[in-house]
Amino acid sequence: MRCREKYDGSFASQICGKCDSLLNVIYDEKHRFSYPKENLFWSYEKFFPECDYKHFKAGGTNIIIADEDGLYLKVETTNPTRSFKDRGSLIEINKAAEYGYREVVCASTGNMAYSIAHFSKKFGIKAKVFISKNANKDKEMLIRGTHDADLTEVNGDFTDAQSAAIKYSKEKGAFLTGDYCYRKEGQKTVIYESMYDLRSVDNIILPVGNSTLLAGALEAIKYMKQSNAIKSVPKIIGVEAEGAKPLFEAFKSGRPVSREKVNTKADAIAVGFPTFGDESIRLLKELGGEVVTVTDKEMENEQEKLRKMYGIEAELGGVASIAAYRRLSNEGKTLAVITGGNV
Ligand SMILES: Cc1ncc(COP(=O)(O)O)c(C=O)c1O
Repeated sequence: MRCREKYDGSFASQICGKCDSLLNVIYDEKHRFSYPKENLFWSYEKFFPECDYKHFKAGGTNIIIADEDGLYLKVETTNPTRSFKDRGSLIEINKAAEYGYREVVCASTGNMAYSIAHFSKKFGIKAKVFISKNANKDKEMLIRGTHDADLTEVNGDFTDAQSAAIKYSKEKGAFLTGDYCYRKEGQKTVIYESMYDLRSVDNIILPVGNSTLLAGALEAIKYMKQSNAIKSVPKIIGVEAEGAKPLFEAFKSGRPVSREKVNTKADAIAVGFPTFGDESIRLLKELGGEVVTVTDKEMENEQEKLRKMYGIEAELGGVASIAAYRRLSNEGKTLAVITGGNV
């Protein structure tokens, strides 16, 4: 995305071999979106990068009609490792296996590593994980205990963990996974599935950490509109925690995203320098979206309400979307995505 070098799908990396920056997936222009017969994750395979995919389960999650006028909730906590991350991990690990890698590495705030560890084990691939020492200890136990991943705590934040993962992938020849292009393609299914169920919606609210979900959502909506699969473009609203808001600051100031200190209990979205931040802002401006913030207290209130009203266990970062819904004067139909349930 920096030097504009092009590679075909056999290039076995998600980072440019020339300038080390992010790669993006570009499809054939004639490749238009159309709704499949069934609304399942693998029903969208023809819109994924080419690969001989193994169809492990993820996605196909429900939308529930909330007890409030016009509010719909897409519940991602029923994914195999209880977050939307499984969608992107399936694409990444399939590609790693196709390229013949025996080890993958990622940096994570917790959920991504849990998901990567889960799927790499299914493929018989080793997983190495770098995680901030301030990360959620229960998530660390899930990653280590249930899925045998090799986990290293990094003295720093998520961005420091990311640097450690990149260094490891270069030194050890492990496939670098995480918030990169193949994951973004998988996360787009959150939008495909939602639009399949709702057909039209005025607002879609998504929690933001590294901004891969948000960038994928914006690209998916743009693609569906260009393909005439949707009549109007919903307003896409990204939500950050008040204590971790680099995207919000950049969106407001018009300056590129810069690294910020993070301080929030919503560990899943405690990211100070979002990888797909600038890309998200460019698309938000193009499609008329917005970035907002919510406090830890607001997320805690929504977590409690969700448990009491619907019996759904969601984590703080996962309910940032409903917390934001309360702050906005939402006209019409709103979809809030509950992204994760690893409490
Ligand atoms: C539960 C949950 N919600 C939201 C996010 C943010 O997603 P992204 O990093 O793609 O912005 C994450 C990322 O770890 C997450 O685990």
